[in-house]
Amino acid sequence: MSAERELRERLRALVAEAREEGAWEALVEEWRALGAAPQRSPASGELPGRFGMVGASPPMEALFDLLEKVAPSDVAVLILGETGTGKEVVARALHEAGGRAERVFLAENCAAVPANLLESELFGHVRGSFTGAVADRAGHFVVADKGTVFLDEIGDMPLAMQSKLLRVLQEGEVRPVGSNKLKRVDVRVIAATNKDLTAMCAERTFREDLYFRLNVITIELPPLRERGGDVALLARHFLASTGEQVGRDLSLDGDALAALEAWTWPGNVRELENEICRAAVLGGDTIRAEDLSPRLSGGV
Ligand SMILES: Nc1ncnc2c1ncn2[C@@H]1O[C@H](COP(=O)(O)OP(=O)(O)O)[C@@H](O)[C@H]1O
Ligand SMILES: [Mg+2]
Repeated sequence: MSAERELRERLRALVAEAREEGAWEALVEEWRALGAAPQRSPASGELPGRFGMVGASPPMEALFDLLEKVAPSDVAVLILGETGTGKEVVARALHEAGGRAERVFLAENCAAVPANLLESELFGHVRGSFTGAVADRAGHFVVADKGTVFLDEIGDMPLAMQSKLLRVLQEGEVRPVGSNKLKRVDVRVIAATNKDLTAMCAERTFREDLYFRLNVITIELPPLRERGGDVALLARHFLASTGEQVGRDLSLDGDALAALEAWTWPGNVRELENEICRAAVLGGDTIRAEDLSPRLSGGV
């Protein structure tokens, strides 16, 4: 974990340096050449879908139409939906399909970072501003200048941090922790949550003024159980991608597909992805109903 953190720090420093030196475009080219840039289309390209997402059900078609309209604009978008419905995929798709695609996209999970570190993650810090701040560090809003910052689980952002974020959005300036210098930034903010922010506003655990700033457009992701027909498509998509990874030609028999289609998928697309992965490990090349988790075939 600390090795990963160190690598992230180094990458961030490199990105910040490239920006300053005006070598940004060259760095992006290099990144692409190394094959590290995110894939824009699903692995199984012939499946129906758009924006790198698989789906052909009416709620997904409506979602794709909305993404077409929203992506080119710079407005703040709030993405709502149950866990595993594809909120992060949508945030990336908005970035990739918009005018900021050549710039940085950075995601922060507001629920996963301790409250005292979140400010430094987002706005940066100067050396010595707190124990462990051994070097200056650019925050997401600086590294992703002219790009996009994705604030995942925004409903878990502490109130004090909400106020600081609101100020940044209003002023278009960040102040790194421990610094007295403001930096102008131009960042598209996309936020996501599976919490009921209106209820949180009423309880005063979420700032209403911030809510209105983040929520110029709301994009609601339908739960998988409401996407008629998409379970089969997504299953094929994950069979293809898992099969490619393990070098096997995977398929489902009729009973297995029926069991997948009958399930309610509380964990949505992520749960289906994990299910296919699990069955691929436990079963043969043709996955049968018995290879699925017991809960899917009427067991516990
Ligand atoms: N429509 C889709 N087509 C293909 N893969 C998807 C789709 N929606 C979600 N996924 C995959 O499902 C997983 C969960 O998506 P994610 O965006 O992390 O969900 P959330 O942020 O809502 O919890 C990811 O691995 C993502 O790539
Ligand atoms: Mg997520």
